[in-house]
Amino acid sequence: MAPPRGLGQLIAILLLALAPHLVAADCECGFVTHTSAAQKQARDSSGTSQLFFTNMLESKFFELKNISLDGTWRRQQYNVSARAGRGEYGKAFAVKNVYSLPGSGDGDSTASTGSSSHPADDGVALVVGSTLTNDAVPVAELDSARSDMVFGSYRAGMKLTPVNGTCAAFFWYFNDTQEIDMEFLSREFDPKKKVYPVNLVIQSEASLQAGFDASKTGTFKVVNLTFDPTAGFHEYRFDYLQDRVLFYADSQLLAEMSGSSVPTSPGHLILQHWSNGNPLWSGGPPEEDAIMTVSYVKAYFNSSDSDVQSSWNSSCQKALSKGSNETVCVVPDVTAANASTGGTFFNTSNPNDDKNGANRLGSTWAATTSALLLLLVLNCL
Ligand SMILES: *[C@@H]1O[C@H](CO)[C@@H](O)[C@H](O)[C@H]1NC(C)=O
Ligand SMILES: *[C@@H]1O[C@H](CO)[C@@H](O)[C@H](O)[C@H]1NC(C)=O
Ligand SMILES: *[C@@H]1O[C@H](CO)[C@@H](O)[C@H](O)[C@H]1NC(C)=O
Ligand SMILES: *[C@@H]1O[C@H](CO)[C@@H](O)[C@H](O)[C@H]1NC(C)=O
Ligand SMILES: *[C@@H]1O[C@H](CO)[C@@H](O)[C@H](O)[C@H]1NC(C)=O
Ligand SMILES: *[C@@H]1O[C@H](CO)[C@@H](O)[C@H](O)[C@H]1NC(C)=O
Ligand SMILES: *[C@@H]1O[C@H](CO)[C@@H](O)[C@H](O)[C@H]1NC(C)=O
Ligand SMILES: *[C@@H]1O[C@H](CO)[C@@H](O)[C@H](O)[C@H]1NC(C)=O
Ligand SMILES: *[C@@H]1O[C@H](CO)[C@@H](O)[C@H](O)[C@H]1NC(C)=O
Ligand SMILES: *[C@@H]1O[C@H](CO)[C@@H](O)[C@H](O)[C@H]1NC(C)=O
Repeated sequence: MAPPRGLGQLIAILLLALAPHLVAADCECGFVTHTSAAQKQARDSSGTSQLFFTNMLESKFFELKNISLDGTWRRQQYNVSARAGRGEYGKAFAVKNVYSLPGSGDGDSTASTGSSSHPADDGVALVVGSTLTNDAVPVAELDSARSDMVFGSYRAGMKLTPVNGTCAAFFWYFNDTQEIDMEFLSREFDPKKKVYPVNLVIQSEASLQAGFDASKTGTFKVVNLTFDPTAGFHEYRFDYLQDRVLFYADSQLLAEMSGSSVPTSPGHLILQHWSNGNPLWSGGPPEEDAIMTVSYVKAYFNSSDSDVQSSWNSSCQKALSKGSNETVCVVPDVTAANASTGGTFFNTSNPNDDKNGANRLGSTWAATTSALLLLLVLNCL
C-alpha cells in the first residue's frame, strides 16, 4: 500500500481538480484567492498567482438590520485626548456613531448596481460629527471580535464621505508597529481636478523611529484612485502575506510592499472614521456630519489559533473522506459593478470554525422555531 497522503498534497490535488465556479460548496478545506493580472506580469518570487487560506469571515452589512446584534463586530467607545492623538482636538469614539443604515435592508442584492431609483446605500455608517463636546470630535470605530487573523486577503466595500476634514480607514492591527492601513483623507479629494488619493501604509519600527510619520518610511505610498470613492461603493483590499503586502481597489493592484516592515503577528480588522483637526493628516473637524458607509467585509485568512487550525484540519479531513469534491472555494474578484453588495458570499458562518458554533446553532434554532411556528399556525387553521 502507498503511504497515506499528507494534507498538503491532498490540497494541491484538490486545487488542480477545481472546477471554475464552486459557489454552493461548503468550503471545508478553505479558500483560494487570486493575485491580479498586473501582478501576474510582475515577477512573483513564489511562482504562483494563487493563494490558499483556511478560514473566513464574511459580513453582509448591507442586509444587517442592527449592527449592535452582530457578535462578530464590536463598536468602540473610548476617548483620546488632543495631546495623545497628536491633534488639535480630542477624539470621542462612541458606539452611537456606528449604526446600521436602514436602506432597503431586505437583502435584495440584485437591485444594487444599475437602477438609480433604488440607490443602495445599505451598510454600516461610521459618522464623524461636526459638533464638538469638551473639545473632542465625535468619531467612530468598528473592530472585528476575533484577533487571530494572520496571513489573509482582507476586503471591504466602502463609500467615503465627500465632506472635507476626516480620515476614513480600513486596517489590520496588532500594535502600533505592526499595522497595515488603507487611509482616505477627504481633504485631499478634489472633485474639480478629479483627484482622489488613497494613502497606503505599513506602520513598523521604522515609523516609530520617525515619530509615526510613515511618510518618512519606505512603506508609505499615495496612489490616485481612478474613480470617485465618494460617489459609490468600491472594494478596498489588502493581502497580508508572509513576505509582502499587496493593496488593491476593485481587484486592481495599487501597490506592493515588502521587507522587514511586513508584520509577523496575528491581529484584528478595524474600520475607523475620525478627525482631530491635525492639518497635516485628517484636517477638519468637518463642517457638517460626515458619513462613511461600509457595505460588507470579506476576509479569507489563516488563523493563529491552534484550536481553529485543528478544527479546520478535522472538518477538511472529514469532508475529504466523505468524498466531497467541492471542499475548496475559489474567491471571485469584485469589480466596481458589484462592490455595493460584494457579489458572491460563501456562507454567513465559517464552516471550519468552532468559534462560530453559536452562529450556526443560532440559525438551526431559528429554523426549528420557524418550523414550530408554522406547525402552530397550521394547527390553528
Ligand atoms: C453553508 O453552510 C451550511 C452549514 O455548514 C451548509 O449546509 C450550506 O450548504 C452552506 N451553503 C453554502 C451556500 O455554502
Ligand atoms: C495558510 O495555511 C495553510 C495551511 O497551513 C497553508 O497551506 C497556506 O500556505 C497558508 N497560506 C498562506 C498565504 O500563507
Ligand atoms: C439595535 O439594538 C439595540 C440593542 O438591542 C437597541 O438598543 C437599538 O435601539 C437598536 N437599534 C436600531 C436602529 O434598531
Ligand atoms: C468621553 O468623554 C465624554 C465627554 O467629552 C464623556 O461624556 C464620556 O463618558 C467619555 N467616554 C469614555 C468612554 O470615557
Ligand atoms: C509590537 O509587537 C512586537 C512583537 O511583540 C514588539 O516587538 C514591538 O515592540 C511592539 N510594538 C509596540 C509599539 O508595542
Ligand atoms: C479642505 O480644507 C482645507 C482646509 O480648509 C483646505 O486647505 C483644502 O483645500 C480643502 N480641500 C478641498 C479639496 O477643498
Ligand atoms: C495625483 O494626481 C495629481 C493631479 O494629476 C498629481 O498632481 C499627483 O502627483 C498625483 N499623485 C500621485 C501619487 O500620482
Ligand atoms: C491533521 O489531521 C490528520 C488526521 O487527523 C493528522 O494526521 C495530521 O497530523 C493533522 N495535521 C495537522 C497539521 O494538524
Ligand atoms: C462532484 O461533482 C460532480 C460534478 O460537478 C457532481 O455531479 C457530484 O454530485 C459531486 N459529488 C459530490 C460528492 O459532491
Ligand atoms: C463581480 O462581477 C464580475 C463581473 O460581472 C464577476 O466576474 C465577478 O465574479 C463578480 N464578483 C463576485 C464576488 O461575485
